[in-house]
This record gives sequence, C-alpha cells and structure tokens, in this order.
Amino acid sequence: MKRKARKIVIENTIPVVTIDGPGGSGKGTIAGLLARELGWHLLDSGALYRLTALAAMNHGVALDDEASLDVLAAHLDVQFIAAETDGDESGIILEGEHVEAAIRQEDVGISASRIAALPAVRDALMSRQRAFAEAPGLVADGRDMGTVVFADAPVKIYLTAGAEERAKRRYFQLKAKGQLQAKGADVSIERLLADIRARDERDMSRAVAPLKPADDAIVLDSTKLTIQEVLGQVMDVMRERGII
Ligand code: DC
Repeated sequence: MKRKARKIVIENTIPVVTIDGPGGSGKGTIAGLLARELGWHLLDSGALYRLTALAAMNHGVALDDEASLDVLAAHLDVQFIAAETDGDESGIILEGEHVEAAIRQEDVGISASRIAALPAVRDALMSRQRAFAEAPGLVADGRDMGTVVFADAPVKIYLTAGAEERAKRRYFQLKAKGQLQAKGADVSIERLLADIRARDERDMSRAVAPLKPADDAIVLDSTKLTIQEVLGQVMDVMRERGII
C-alpha cells in the first residue's frame, strides 16, 4: 500500500510539456529541440501510430480490423534508440529492423491516421505513452497529448500553421531527403496539400481523442515564425510557469 502511494507522488512530480497540432506544424522539430535543450525525454507519439500501421502492413492485417490491430499495438516489438552524444545514430527498431525511414513515408502516415481513429488502438498505446514520463521531464508530441494522455501537464502548447505552408514545408523536407519520388513520379505540392487536408479532417473529426487544443493550451501559429522563434516562445512560457 505504502509503496503504491509513493510511486504516485513521484509520477505526479515529473514535469510534462505537451505539444499537439496538425502534421507539418513543426511540432516534431520543436519537441526534439526542446527535449535536447532541457535534457528531457521525448515522446513522438505519432511514431507509435505509424509503427502500428507499418506492423499491420507487414503482417497483412487490414486497417479496419480493430481486434487484430489492438493485439498488434499492445505487443509492438519496438525499441527507441536515443543518440547519447552528437554523432551517435538514433533510430527506431521494429521487430529487429531499422524502420525510421519506412515509418516517415506518406502512405504509412495516412494509414497511421486511419488506425488512430480506432478506440482499441488508442487504448492499447496509452500505457506505453504514459511510461515515457520519467525524470527529469518529458516533452510529448502528438495530437491528444494535452487533451487525453497527459491531461494534467503544466504546460500545453497547440502548434498550428496554414495548410499551404505545411504542404510547402513537407515538400522541401521530402526534397532534401531525396524522397520526392512516389510510384515513379514526383510528388507535387498540390498532392501534398490534398493529403494534409484529408489527414486534418480525419484527425479532427474522429469520435475518440480528436485533434483540438486543450482548453488550457497556448495556441501558437508558426506560419510566419522561425523554428527559433517558436522554441523561444515555448521556453518563455515554461519560465513564466516556473517549470524551468
Ligand atoms: O504526427 P504524425 O504525423 O507522425 O502522426 C501520424 C498519425 O498518427 C496522425 O495522422 C494521427 C495519428 N496520431 C494520433 O492520432 N494521436 C497522436 N497522439 C499522434 C498521432
């Protein structure tokens, strides 16, 4: 009994900053930089949905087979390798294979968005996400970090940007990685914009944990801001609240 009470106290004292928002808003970049700056843990919750989608595709599980996806999500054999020092390789290993590049593909993102609408999948990934909250602190990036998974977080950011700007960012990101080719043709900004709008619609309109700012979230529009400006604003909020 005593041990349980102590554990709860420890968990409650771990500061969590949530950064939610639509794809391409820059939240992944900001969350990564913030975690590195503070020396805190990082949860890329979208990666868990992408990993579940990739595992489903690899195992021939249909994206609407909720019962099988529930089992897959609950038993994901995944390792997150953090770079200990600059130059070290970080990575994500699913069932023994490096999948960092594979899970970032557009089609896996779209599949992730589809399975993320299934309540059983969201439930199955819940405890795995909460387990990331460890000392000295956690930066949690996703869609429902501030509304559901870490609803008690002391700092919640909702980062957004115009859909056109997000499509442009995605285009240049893919170009820089040499990943503009899909099915033999270059992906256009128009096509990326259509995908972004469809994904926004699906993520915002689903019945369970839809993408929306938490009531107590600070909404930041990054359309006209640099990465450093957004990072500065987030850290200002953390300082004002005495988190750092
Ligand atoms: O952030 P991302 O693009 O890697 O996320 C991929 C999909 O996963 C996204 O379209 C919706 C889903 N997702 C979610 O439903 N909840 C989260 N906390 C994170 C991602």
